[in-house]
Amino acid sequence: MKKLSDSNYLQEHQYKDPTKLNARIRLHRQFSTNTYSWFHWVFDHLELPPECRLLELGCGPGDLWVENAHRLPQGWEITLSDFSQGMLEHARKNTLPLAHQFNLEIIDAQEIPYPAYSFDAVIANHMFYHVSDRKEALEEIQCVLKPGGRAYFATVGECHMAELPALVAKFDPRLATQHQAERVDFTLENGTAQLKEWFSGLKLHRQENALLVTEINPLVDYVLSSLKLGLQEERRGEFADFLAKEMAGSDGVIFINKENGMFEVMR
Ligand SMILES: C[S@@+](CC[C@H](N)C(=O)[O-])C[C@H]1O[C@@H](n2cnc3c(N)ncnc32)[C@H](O)[C@@H]1O
Repeated sequence: MKKLSDSNYLQEHQYKDPTKLNARIRLHRQFSTNTYSWFHWVFDHLELPPECRLLELGCGPGDLWVENAHRLPQGWEITLSDFSQGMLEHARKNTLPLAHQFNLEIIDAQEIPYPAYSFDAVIANHMFYHVSDRKEALEEIQCVLKPGGRAYFATVGECHMAELPALVAKFDPRLATQHQAERVDFTLENGTAQLKEWFSGLKLHRQENALLVTEINPLVDYVLSSLKLGLQEERRGEFADFLAKEMAGSDGVIFINKENGMFEVMR
C-alpha cells in the first residue's frame, strides 16, 4: 500500500504530531510569491450563512481557524476533526485561546459518526488525497450534509512542485521511484470526475503561486518531512551541499511552481 493513503503510517508517523506538516508550511510561508495566506484564501471562498454548522475533516493543528479567528461569525458551530489523536490535541491547544468555541473529535473521513443532514458545510483542506476509500468518504460527506449544503475539497495539481522530485532525483536517481509510487490520486485535474457523481454545482477555484527559495535549510527540512520524496535524515548534510551548488548555479534562487486549488460542490 502507498504511504500516502496508509492510515497506520499516516497516524503513527507522518501526522503523529504537526512537526512534519509545519516544516512544509514554513517553506510556503517564507518563500511564496503570492504572499496572501493560503488559510485566508480558503476562508474567503466559504460561501456560508451567518448561522451554520461546519465540519472540518483532517483539520491538522487547526491553522484555518487560528488564522481566521478574527472573522469567524458567532453563529458558526464548528466541529474540528482528524483521525490523528496527536493532531487533534494540537488543534485543541491552538484553538483554546480563541474567543470562538470549537467541538473537537477524532473522526476518520471514511466513517463520519453523525446522522444524515447534520452539517451545512464540510471542509477537507489538503487531506482528501490521503483517503484510501474516497467513494466511501464521499458517500459519508454527502449523507451528513443538509440539502443545499456545501463541501470544499482543497488539493494540488499533478505538476504541483514538480521541480522538487526532479531535484531529489538529480541528487540520487534511486529516489525517483519513491515519488512515482506515491502519486497523488485526488488532484485538480481528476477531482471533478470523482466529485460529480455525488454532488452538483461544482466550481474549481485556483490560487496562482510559486516558490522562490533563497535559503537551503527550509528546503532541506521540507524534503526530509515529505513522505513522497523518500530522503532520509542521515543524508541531510549531503543533500544540503547538493542544494547549495544547485542554488549557486541558478543565481541564488530555486524556482518551484505551485498548483493549489479548491473544489466547491453542493449537495
Ligand atoms: C496535509 S495535512 C492537512 C492539515 C490541515 N487541513 C491543513 O491544511 O493544515 C492532512 C491531515 O489529514 C489527516 N487525515 C489524513 N487522512 C485522514 C482520514 N482518512 N480521516 C481524517 N483525517 C485524515 C491527517 O492526520 C492530517 O492531519
